[in-house]
Amino acid sequence: MSDRHAGINRLEDALRLPPHRATTVVMLTDSHSFLSRITLPDLTATKALGMRVAGRLQIGDTVALKGDLGAGKTTLARAILRTLTVAESVPSPTFTLVQTYETPRLAVRHYDLYRIENPRDIDELGLDEALEEGAVLIEWPEHAGSRLPGDALQIALTATGAQSRLADITGPARWAPVFTEGALVR
Ligand SMILES: Nc1ncnc2c1ncn2[C@@H]1O[C@H](COP(=O)(O)OP(=O)(O)O)[C@@H](O)[C@H]1O
Ligand SMILES: [Mg+2]
Repeated sequence: MSDRHAGINRLEDALRLPPHRATTVVMLTDSHSFLSRITLPDLTATKALGMRVAGRLQIGDTVALKGDLGAGKTTLARAILRTLTVAESVPSPTFTLVQTYETPRLAVRHYDLYRIENPRDIDELGLDEALEEGAVLIEWPEHAGSRLPGDALQIALTATGAQSRLADITGPARWAPVFTEGALVR
C-alpha cells in the first residue's frame, strides 16, 4: 500500500469510520491528482466499477490494474471490455501477454505483464502504438517500471473476503468525477 493510501487509513481512523465501508473517500492530493477508496462488496460492485471506468475511457488512456493473484484484475478488465460491447471471450492474457479488442468507440489492448522480467521487454509489445490507437489495460503494471505512462489511472485491488474487494484508486484529476458522481464523498 502506498504512503498516500496509508493516509486514507489514518483518515478513517481519525474520523472513526469503520474501515472498508462501502463509501468513497476522495481527496485531491494536489491540483493534478486524486485518491479514492471504494469498497466492492461483491462481483456486481466490481462490474459497476468497470462500467464507470469504461464510460470515461479515451484514446491514449492507461488503466493500471494492481493486486495479487485472484484479486480481480482480469475480472475488472473484462467488465470494462464488456461495457465497451466486446462480445467475444475475454481470456486472461497471462500467456499471450496482450489481447487486442476493437470496440465501436476505441481499440483496447489488454496486457498482463506478470511474466515480464525486464521492463525493456515491453518495448516489443507495442505499448506506444497501442496508446496512439486506443486505450490500454495493464495487469501487473509494476513490471513495466518506468515504461508505465505517468498519467495512468491506477486501481489496486485487495481481497477482503471471498466476494469482497477493496479498490484503492489514484490518477490524474480528470478521472476523479468518475469515482465521486453518485457516491458519498466526505
Ligand atoms: N468482488 C469481486 N471482484 C472481482 N473478482 C471477484 C469478486 N468476488 C469474487 N471474485 C472472483 O475472484 C476471482 C478473481 O480472478 P481474476 O479476475 O482472474 O484475478 P486476477 O486477474 O487479479 O488474478 C474470480 O474468480 C472472480 O469471480
Ligand atoms: Mg489476471
